Parts: sequence; structure tokens; C-alpha cells
Amino acid sequence: SDLSHIRNFAIIAHIDHGKSTLADRLIQLCGNVEDRDMKEQLLDSMDLERERGITIKAQTVRLNYTSPSDGRTYQLNLMDTPGHVDFAYEVSRSLAACEGSLLVVDASQGVEAQTLANVYQAIDAGHEIIPVLNKIDLPAAEPERVKQQIEDVIGLDTSDSVGISAKTGLHVDQVLEALVHRLPPPKGNLEAPLQALLVDSWYDSYLGVITLVRVREGVVRKGMRLRMMATGAVHLVDKVGIFTPKMVETDSLSAGEMGFIMSGIKSVADCQIGDTLTDERNPAATPLPGFKPSVPVVWCGLFPVDTSDFEALRDSLAKLRLNDSSFEYQADTSAALGFGFRCGFLGLLHMEIIQERLEREFDLDLITTAPSVVYRLYMTDGVMSELHNPADMPDPAKIDHMEEPWVKATIMVPDDYLGQVLALCTERRGIQLDLTYAGNRAMAVYKLPLNEIVFDFYDRLKSISRGYASFDYEMSEYQESDLVRISILVNAEPVDALSFIAHRSQAEYRGRQICARLKDLIPRHLFKIPIQAAIGGRVIARETIAAMRKDVTAKCYGGDITRKKKLLEKQKAGKKRMRQFGKVEIPQTAFISALRMN
Ligand code: GTP
Repeated sequence: SDLSHIRNFAIIAHIDHGKSTLADRLIQLCGNVEDRDMKEQLLDSMDLERERGITIKAQTVRLNYTSPSDGRTYQLNLMDTPGHVDFAYEVSRSLAACEGSLLVVDASQGVEAQTLANVYQAIDAGHEIIPVLNKIDLPAAEPERVKQQIEDVIGLDTSDSVGISAKTGLHVDQVLEALVHRLPPPKGNLEAPLQALLVDSWYDSYLGVITLVRVREGVVRKGMRLRMMATGAVHLVDKVGIFTPKMVETDSLSAGEMGFIMSGIKSVADCQIGDTLTDERNPAATPLPGFKPSVPVVWCGLFPVDTSDFEALRDSLAKLRLNDSSFEYQADTSAALGFGFRCGFLGLLHMEIIQERLEREFDLDLITTAPSVVYRLYMTDGVMSELHNPADMPDPAKIDHMEEPWVKATIMVPDDYLGQVLALCTERRGIQLDLTYAGNRAMAVYKLPLNEIVFDFYDRLKSISRGYASFDYEMSEYQESDLVRISILVNAEPVDALSFIAHRSQAEYRGRQICARLKDLIPRHLFKIPIQAAIGGRVIARETIAAMRKDVTAKCYGGDITRKKKLLEKQKAGKKRMRQFGKVEIPQTAFISALRMN
């Protein structure tokens, strides 16, 4: 079977280097979309994504391109990949569906941390890679210097690279020519039993579950009975089709092609990403190599501000999970916050996105507890268990030892800021593995405990480098560590949602910092409030909030009544986000801000 007219490719880039702009241009050049239909970012369908400028869901677009050099019409399948470190697993599975990649590098910025992370994944996937230097319209563009950097840092030959402006369209036609002449076509046999890789799936409220597949062998048709090889489930194919980027139904999808299948599946949870779909009547002998399942690495508690919203929160989480199988949740109770859920995320950005969607799309007011990583507990009786919530920490006397997860982090930073960046890594218990230079930029590779970066590492890195440092990490391994749980007592009552786990060497410093911060975050009451940090029964830090002297509205008496009303309304609105602990009210902001480090 002749697949020589097909090219499957991904665009990989550091955030903001112009991936979406280039994708839009390619779509436009291939005539799929009328100019007037072009939205800002065609591939980003969710509003929230558009706002953040981050592509969350991997999607694919089929383009028809007639090459002026040989007169042939090619089928190009463009796979969109997310750029952020939290979604690295989505990048790897998008790449598994393609034979080649366009590596887009901003010619005014050069190679950044996600450029490296993505290109290494593409190399692992066996891709042919075409370097594309973007933004050459900018006066600050230095394509020659950046080419040299790509050769030095990544080791890719750049003699055939293409210099373009995705914004103005300059030389984008050369990208299309490079795609058809330099990337290999897919391999596959139309006569073989069906093997289709399940790349992604999502829930659409009108259409139900949609799966994105890459057909490796054979053909999938409407009316076929499909078996998912890992789960064994069998479904009848209702529709198959492609994205242009609009959804268009087709008769079939054949070996080498990508597209969607709809087949009466009820929930995304029933679709195991990386599974192989085959024909029930004529099944393939073996499944395709799948993907590693994504494992949540950061957990936090989500509690409704208004306790009567618990059921609404449960419904909303179930709906979100339909579209995002990498997000996990389980019911949880907190003495301080009542009934809620413990939720697991791929990283901090993923956590923020889910929280924001819950608040915006489902109109819920939430209290979020501080994020925590997953620790391993080895008990004296030989049992190992995972600790997702610091509040569940057992009696330390029963713990033989604990382990915490480490990551391997790559940081790219201009020389001028290197000193501060190295100091930050050391302060966060980092171990330097490598330090190299390319031009005036340094690349530092560190091993760091994940619990030292989940909070504000990225924010700190950006602020000490004035935004110039870029950062990427991958999970490394678990290592034994001297960890302790620090409890926080407000007015002598432990607030379980504020407890956290830290390395013993940092416990006292962190405890002191949090007490000081809570002192500012908790409003004064009519009585004195002691705030304490403790390890077991031993208090390691203490602050006191002085008693309030006057009623806030007192000075308005006799004065302007509307002003007084406004003040009371403001207080009421503020209360919505407060929680009562014994006699003390703690504002929602305290739960996250208190643990933020400086
Ligand atoms: P994410 O979706 O966040 O991963 O970013 P991206 O890599 O898709 O980048 P995007 O296409 O959103 O471009 C980032 C910014 O660079 C936008 O403001 C674009 O308008 C701008 N941009 C993209 N290509 C060019 C170019 O060739 N020249 C200039 N001057 N600006 C460009």
C-alpha cells in the first residue's frame, strides 16, 4: 500500500516561541480555512486556554498540500503539542503518533528549557527533526547565533534549517516544502488486521466521548466492532472522521492516518490512553507499545466555602474528570474544613487550571489547601504506604523511615543571573549535576526534591532572573529523607489543613515563617490569638495576634450611613471566604499564602 503522500508531524517549541502562530499559518496556506474564519488561535478551543495562551489538549489537523516542486498533493497531519512542563506526558504521546517534528525556536531568544525537553522527547520517539528559526522579522533576531546554539547544545545539524516569520508569513512555504521532502512517510499495511493507537479522548456534551487515534495497520470503518485490547471492551463505531480543524466525517481511516472515532463509549475513564484498538472480527495478534500512565505528583485538598456546596463540588469534579483522565480525586474530611476532596494533579499549573475551571465554569467558591507531594512511608512493621495528605501522617514512633520524590531539573539562564539561581537551588536542597555554557547563557542541571519546587520555585526563579530563566523538570526517583510533620495551632487548636511536611533542617525556619505570615493574614479578633508551629508536642515557633481595640464601623457612627453600609457589605463578602476554627475566623487566602516561601 502506498502511504508516500502522508506526513505526520508535530510542532515542538518553548512557550511563546510561536508554535500556535505557525500552526495557524500552515492551516491558512493549505487553504483549509477562509481568512475571515481565522480566530486568534485556531487550535486552542477552550476559552480558558485561549486566555492563558496554553494548549492543554493535544489535537490534530489534516491539511492538503500541493507541492509546487513536484505537483503532488500530500496529506499532512499536524499534531498539536502542549508546551508546558506539567503536560510533558501529553507531548510524548502526541509524538508517538508522528514520524517527524518541526522544532520552532524564537530567533531572538534562542534555545530554552522546554526546547530541550521537547526535542529530547522527539529524538526518543525516533523523529526526523527540522529546525525552524522563527521571528526573523524582529530586529533582535540573531538566526546565525541561534543556529550555532542549536548545534552546540542539542547537536542537531542546522544546515537545512528554515528561517521564517510565522507572524508575517515570510518563508512559511519553505516549511511546507521541507515537511514533504525531508520527513519520512508513515509505514503500514492496509490489508493487515487493524491496530490503532488511542492517543487521546475527551468528552463533548453534544457528541459524547470522542477518541483521537493514529491508525498503524489496517483500516477502521463506520459500523465496525472495535475491541480495546487492554480493557477488552467492545464498541460499535458510530462515526469516523478528521479535523480540518472542523470535524468532518469520512468513510474510513487507514494505516498512516490520524483522526477521530465516536463509538458509544460512556466515559473517558473507559478509554485507556495508549491502548490499541482492533477489529473484533479480525483482531491483531499483539497490541502496539502503549504509553506510561500519567501519575499525579501534586495533591491538595479542595473544600467548598459553603458546606452545602459539597454535592455540587462532587458533580463538578466528576464532569471535569470526564475530560481529563490525568486528574484524580477522592473524598476527604478535614476537622478544620469539613467535607471535601483530596485531588491529584500533574503539576502546579494543572492544579491551578482545575481550580480555576471549578470556580468559573461551575461557579463554586473553594478553599484550597497547600499542595503536597506524595511521600512513601516505611512502617516499623515492614508495610509501605503512600502519604498524600500531611494531615494523615501516622505516629512517628511507628515509622521506620520516609522517602520523598526527587526531580531532575534543567535551568537555562543568562550569565548575569546565574549566581542567584545557583543560590536558590542550594537553598532548596539542590544537588548540582552539570553546569555548561552556550554563548552567554548557562545551562544548570540539578537534582531537587519535588517538595522544594511545588510551591513557588518557578515564581522565585522568574523573579530573580527578571523573567529570563526557563525551567523544566522530569521525575527522577524516591530517596530516603529526614522528614517531619509540622502542625499549626491557632488559638491552641490544631488546624489540620495547614499542617505540612518539611525536611528537618528547614522545619524551624519554615515554622517561624508561617507563624509570622499567619499573624498578618488572620484579622484581629476581640481576644488575643496565639499562633504556634509544632513538631509532635514540641513548639518550634510562636507569634501572637493582639486583641482588636475597636469595632471597625465605630468611627463611622453619626457619619455617612452609605459608607458604613459599604463597609459592612465588604466585611460580609470577606466572610464568605472565611472559615471558623474554634473561636477564630481564618480567611481562605491564608491556606495557601501561609506556606509560600520567600
Ligand atoms: P504557547 O501556546 O503558549 O505554547 O505559545 P506558542 O509557542 O504557541 O506561541 P504563540 O504562537 O502564541 O506566539 C507567542 C507570541 O509570539 C505571540 O504574541 C505571537 O504573536 C508572537 N509571534 C509568533 N510568531 C512571530 C513572528 O514570526 N514574529 C513576531 N514578531 N512575533 C511572533
